[in-house]
Amino acid sequence: MSTESRATAIVLAAGQGTRMKSALPKVLHPLAGRPMIHYVVDAAIQAGADDVVVVVGHGRELVEAYLAKAFGDRVRTAVQAEQRGTGHAVSVALPQVRDDADLLLLLCGDTPLLDASELKGLVTLLRDAPALPLAMLTVKPADPTGYGRILRDAAGNVTGIREHKDCSREERMIGETNPGVYVARAAFLREAIPQIRPDNAQRELYLTDVVALAAKAGGVPTALVKQPMNVAGINDRAQLAEAEDVLHARIADAHRRAGATIRTSARIDAGVAVEPDATIEHGVVLRGATKIGPGAVIDVGSVLTDVAVAAGANVKPYTIATSSSIGEKAQIGPFSHLRPDSEIEADAHVGNFVETKKTRLGKGAKANHLAYLGDGDVGPGANIGAGTIFCNYDGFKKHRTEIGEGAFIGSDSQLVAPVRIGKGAYVATGTTVTRDVPDDALAIARVKQENKEGYASKLKARLKASVKK
Ligand code: UD1
Ligand code: CA
Repeated sequence: MSTESRATAIVLAAGQGTRMKSALPKVLHPLAGRPMIHYVVDAAIQAGADDVVVVVGHGRELVEAYLAKAFGDRVRTAVQAEQRGTGHAVSVALPQVRDDADLLLLLCGDTPLLDASELKGLVTLLRDAPALPLAMLTVKPADPTGYGRILRDAAGNVTGIREHKDCSREERMIGETNPGVYVARAAFLREAIPQIRPDNAQRELYLTDVVALAAKAGGVPTALVKQPMNVAGINDRAQLAEAEDVLHARIADAHRRAGATIRTSARIDAGVAVEPDATIEHGVVLRGATKIGPGAVIDVGSVLTDVAVAAGANVKPYTIATSSSIGEKAQIGPFSHLRPDSEIEADAHVGNFVETKKTRLGKGAKANHLAYLGDGDVGPGANIGAGTIFCNYDGFKKHRTEIGEGAFIGSDSQLVAPVRIGKGAYVATGTTVTRDVPDDALAIARVKQENKEGYASKLKARLKASVKK
């Protein structure tokens, strides 16, 4: 973008959002893994805004903290201590706008489905017509109740906006409404905002009043939004749920266009990466910074949060994994639980009812059934039998279990950490290992079996007699 036409976005987000009935400020409610306001700021930046000023009020510390974390110094805030209307909110933001900003995008923080290309269209329109003071989107919603109506003259030119509460009966018949998305020349807005007055039903300073001023100052071109949903404002949790469905559908479609198979009931959050030929089955939830490699399969009902899955891995149904990595062609599940810092390397297997935490499973290692592997390091090709437990916690501290390459841990063994099992060593079934096992050794620690010949029938007779008495 050339320096002579810098654009700044002003995002209004000071309102309380009473209908959310929440302790959390409305614009911080998440959809598809990100707070509502994130999408609005993103759309503004994509549409060409060089910087963004967010007007904050209710819950401002939380909103400011989120914006700083997510966008750094690309986004600044202006505080509107008392909410005296949308025009007042813009007046609070104007001093934060740099002098060299020529165009201002005016947006609301509660419209997360904005289409950046529609915003960009407005920006381009105004940039190419220096005499125009303001351009805006309009919409024809199924039910216009509550929205500001677009007033036009006989020739069809916009003359102003009338708020629902201020409309006559005839004006309420107008189906074209104001979604609250405008691009204005900064110079025009700086002159127009001080002229608006709170002479309306709500005794507020209406931003919409600048539209009549712009109509007189050169005209207001409009663009009708393609889908009313794109400018839907979120006021309650029902609308939040609807908008989230739309976002999830958009995200899934984008992954499908890029070559992944995404079943209709999968839920992939914003920011998740899915490579071509991956398959995301029904009921899967992918969150955070999760990455799915090419050809990997994430099967029904799995929930992955911040997990890197490499090419060709197979995550079988109902696997839960968090902050972990799954190597190439590894097999996880069904019903596995990878807790944070599990590193499952290539070709390794983690089976049903196996829980891992802070544990590396080397290449080709296997833990196929019923095990707890916490704070461990399992060498390549090692085999962990069913029922094995890494006893990592003594009630005070966590300790590590190390298992050498190619070692075999028999079923139902307890490895009391800290402990080290050598390369190629063999732990017999049912052993409680309390001391290190050298390379290639066999560790066995269990009570010797005794068989009493003919004793079973005697025992049964005695038990039967005791029941009769
Ligand atoms: C506004 C428009 C209306 C439009 C509708 C679309 C005005 C006067 N009316 O009405 O024409 O159809 O949006 O949804 O602009 N806000 C502040 N500070 C304030 C007041 C509001 O930051 O003092 C923020 C709110 O947090 C919200 C946005 O501005 O994000 C819109 O405010 P809201 O009160 O919802 O405006 P509406 O009455 O819906
Ligand atoms: Ca509103």
